Amino acid sequence: MRYIVANFKMQGTDTYFGTLAQQLIASKTTATVVLCPSYPYLASLAAHPIAVGAQDVSAFATGAYTGQVSASMLLSVGCTYVIIGHSERRKYCQESNSEIKQKLSQALASGLKPILCVGEVDADMTSTARQSLLAEQLQVLEGLALDNVLIAYEPVWAIGTGKSADPKYAQMVHQEILALVKAPVLYGGSVNATNAPAFLAQSAVSGLLVGGASLDATAFLSICQIG
Ligand code: PGA
Repeated sequence: MRYIVANFKMQGTDTYFGTLAQQLIASKTTATVVLCPSYPYLASLAAHPIAVGAQDVSAFATGAYTGQVSASMLLSVGCTYVIIGHSERRKYCQESNSEIKQKLSQALASGLKPILCVGEVDADMTSTARQSLLAEQLQVLEGLALDNVLIAYEPVWAIGTGKSADPKYAQMVHQEILALVKAPVLYGGSVNATNAPAFLAQSAVSGLLVGGASLDATAFLSICQIG
């Protein structure tokens, strides 16, 4: 199965998401497309027959955690997926691997499918340093059932920079990840309609996590149509 996940981040409008959902449904894409808007738009988007995901989830099940949203609340408004451990949350919200592990446990316990984001920070990292960082980030999956887990390999240096990884490099890192974890691995980082086919042609690339290009309906629809 091929996954195309839209991470709209803190951007987009209810109208944009709703129209995009209708266009995707009309396009009859064979990919599993998951749209991940900000919290306020989840419920209305989930009214469409399309998979919807959140961009984060609380590490706690319930309680006095002002501003947080639990996995069961996400499920109750129609979410089926949740992005966990995105590099922007690791950077701006100081999310640690131990907090990410708690979030994964909460998501899985509630029946949400987590999309765990991993990736090295620096394009100049040696392969040994990259491998040990990825192994550390993937360690959070230890002891968890992987049936419903997706991994998104997103080299941080490629996110929002316009400098996507070379598809062959992505293939190599995905194979390294697959040697550690048996779960579909999506590539993310400056994916656009032009470079998407080359990523999807790699045997170890099971899909794409699309940021900026998901805000351009024409580009995103064409990525979802790649055969
Ligand atoms: P980008 O973002 O496609 O804009 O690089 C990807 C992501 O952060 O998930």
